[in-house]
Amino acid sequence: MDAPTGDRSSSDEPPFDDPIEPPTAFVETANVSDRSIYERFDRSWPACWGEAAALLEWEAPYETVLDDTDAPLYRWFSDGELNASYNCLDRHLEERKNQVAITWIGKRDERQSYTYLDLHREVNAAAAALRELGVEADDVVTLYLPMIPQLPIMMLACARIGAPHNVVFAGLSAEALAQRMGAAESEVLVTCDGYYRREDAFNQKSKADNARIRLDYDLSAMVVVDRLGPELAVHLGNNEYDYDELVTAHRGETVEPVARNATDLLFVMYTSGTTGEPKGVEHATGGYLAHVAWTTQAVLDVKPQDTYWCAADIGWITGHSYGVYGPLALGTTSIVYEGTPDYPDRNRIWELIERNAVNVFYTAPTAIRSFMKWGAEFPERHDRSSLRLLGTVGEAITPRAWRWYREHVGDGETPIVDTWWQTETGAILLATLPGLSKMKPGAAGPPLPGIDIAVVDETGEPIAPGETGYLTVTKPWPGMLRGLRGGTDRYIREYWRETDNGWAYQTGDGATIDEDGYVTILGRVDDVINVDAHRLTTTELEAAIVEVPGVTEAAVVGDGAGLIAFVTVRHDTGEDEKLREAIRARLREAIGAVAVPDRIVFTPELPKTRSGKIMRRLLEDIACGNEFGDISALRNPEVVGEISSTIGNT
Ligand code: WT7
Repeated sequence: MDAPTGDRSSSDEPPFDDPIEPPTAFVETANVSDRSIYERFDRSWPACWGEAAALLEWEAPYETVLDDTDAPLYRWFSDGELNASYNCLDRHLEERKNQVAITWIGKRDERQSYTYLDLHREVNAAAAALRELGVEADDVVTLYLPMIPQLPIMMLACARIGAPHNVVFAGLSAEALAQRMGAAESEVLVTCDGYYRREDAFNQKSKADNARIRLDYDLSAMVVVDRLGPELAVHLGNNEYDYDELVTAHRGETVEPVARNATDLLFVMYTSGTTGEPKGVEHATGGYLAHVAWTTQAVLDVKPQDTYWCAADIGWITGHSYGVYGPLALGTTSIVYEGTPDYPDRNRIWELIERNAVNVFYTAPTAIRSFMKWGAEFPERHDRSSLRLLGTVGEAITPRAWRWYREHVGDGETPIVDTWWQTETGAILLATLPGLSKMKPGAAGPPLPGIDIAVVDETGEPIAPGETGYLTVTKPWPGMLRGLRGGTDRYIREYWRETDNGWAYQTGDGATIDEDGYVTILGRVDDVINVDAHRLTTTELEAAIVEVPGVTEAAVVGDGAGLIAFVTVRHDTGEDEKLREAIRARLREAIGAVAVPDRIVFTPELPKTRSGKIMRRLLEDIACGNEFGDISALRNPEVVGEISSTIGNT
C-alpha cells in the first residue's frame, strides 16, 4: 500500500487516499474492462466517438464525425439524421416490448410501470396531442412538472415531433418560470394541478397562472396534468386543456418520428449564469444522445436487464441525461421516484432499492451526507445485495462520505464512480471506468477515453501535479452544448479561450491533478454556488435580497452544506426576524425554495477591499469556520470580528 498522503485522514481510520482496485467480481461482468480503450480512443480521435454513435440507430448515417470548420462552434455527426424518441422507444420494441422501461413510484407509494410498449403508446398519443395543439418542429415546449410519468412522456413526445423541450424544475417560482419561458419564446406549457410535499398538497397550477400573467405574449396552450385528483380542483381557462382528455382522444394513434439533423436542438435547459441572467444551454440531438448513451454504458455500467435508479430530479440535467435519455437509449429499466428520502421515514430509499432489486444507484453527495447523518442502521436494515455499482455527482464528495457510502450502502464491496460533468457538458467527462481503474476517494478521476483536459494557471499554462489551477477541456466532446440560446457571442465569451493549441473550454472549476492524472475538484472559481447539487449564482441571489425594502447590501456564500446570506440594513429596526422572513419570501418568489438560505446574518457592514469589492472569500471562511489570513487589505477590518462573533465562530 502507498503511504498515506495529505492530512485529510484521522488516525483512527484507514488512510483516505489509498487507491482501491475494482473488485474482481465486478470486473468480470463490466461493460468496459479492456484497458486498450484509452489508447484506442486517443489514436483514432475524433473517429473513436463513432463507437458512441454506434449505440444509436440513425435514420441517415453521418459521414463527418466532427465538423470543426467553425470552431469553437463544433458540430458533431453533422450530416447524420436520427430521432431521440425513436432511439429510446421504437427500436426496443422488437426485443423487449414487454420489459419495463419506467417504474414510477409516487409520493403516496403509488406505483405505475410502463413497459417499452406502454411507453411507446403513451408517447405517441402525447405527440399526437401536441400536434393537435399546433406544435411543430422547432417550437419550444416548456414542461413544468414534478417527478411524474408525464414528464418523461412529454419529453419523448416533444423529441418525437422535433419540438425542443424546456424543462423547468417544478420547485422554481412563477417568476423563474416566466423568465425561462420568455427567454425561450415558448408558447406551450405543460404543467399539473399540484403535487404532494410530504403530507401537503401543493398548488402548481397557480404558479403556472402567475407565470402566464408575467409573459409579454399569450400562451397558445397550457396542458394541465391531474396529479392530485379531487384533492385539488383547478379551474381551466382559455386555451387550457386537461392532459388526460387531450391525450386520451389520441390513444392508439402513431406519430412518425421526425428525422432530425444530429445538430438540431433536442432541448434547452436554463442554468444559473455568472451574470445572474439564466443561460439557456442548448443540446443537440446526435452528439448529446451518443455521449449520454455511451457513458451510461461505460461509466454507470448499465445493462438492458438492469434496474437502474438515478435519484436526481428530471428538472435538472442529471435527470435528463441519466434518468431519461441514457437508460432508455440502452433499453434498461429506469426508476422515477417522486418522493423524498425521508418520507414517510428514513428507510425509504433502502426499502425501494430492496423492493425493486436496484442494480445501479446514482445520487449526489448532499443525499449521502443526509444518509450519514441519519445513520447506517437504515440502509443496514435492508437487503442491498442487488447493488452492483454506486455513483455520485453534483459536487465533490469528501473521502469520508465516499467511504461511508461504500461501507454502509455498498457493503464495502460495491465500486463507486464519482462522475464530474456540468449542464453544459451534457454528459460525464471525468470518472473512473469502474471495471478498469482504481478508485481514489475524493478524486473524481481521470478524463474518460476521448476526453482531453488540462488544469492550468491564469496564463493558460498547465500546472504541476498537486498544485491548484483551473480545469479546462482542450478538445471538443460529443455531449457538449451546441451554444447558448440567443447568443453566440456570449457563448464564446463565457466558455472558450483560444490558446496556442487551439480552443479550450473553461469549466469554471478549480482543480488539482495528481501524478496519475486523477482530478480533484476544488469548487467553482466564479461566483457560482452549488447547493444541494443545484447551481445558483451569488449575483441572482443578492439581486433578489436587495429588492427587500430596508436592505442595502447583501453577500451570499456557500458554507459547504447550504447558503448563508450576510445582509446590511438601512436602519436597525430591531425587527430582524420580520426582515429575515421578508428576505426568505423574496428569494422563494424570485427563484424558488432552493434559494432560501440556511442562515441570514445581519451585519453593520460587509468586509470590503479599498477599491470597494466585497471580500466573498473571507465571508466564506467565516461561514465555514476556517482560519482566515491577512485582512490588512480590508478597508474595514473591524467588521470581521463583529461578523465572526455574530455567527458564533470566534
Ligand atoms: C458543477 C456543474 C452535472 C451534474 C449536476 C450539476 C460541480 C459536478 C461534480 C463532481 C465535484 C462536481 C462542479 C461543476 N460538480 N459533479 N463529481 N465532483 N464537483 O450540474 O448545475 O451544471 O453544475 O457541479 O462544480 O462545475 P451543474
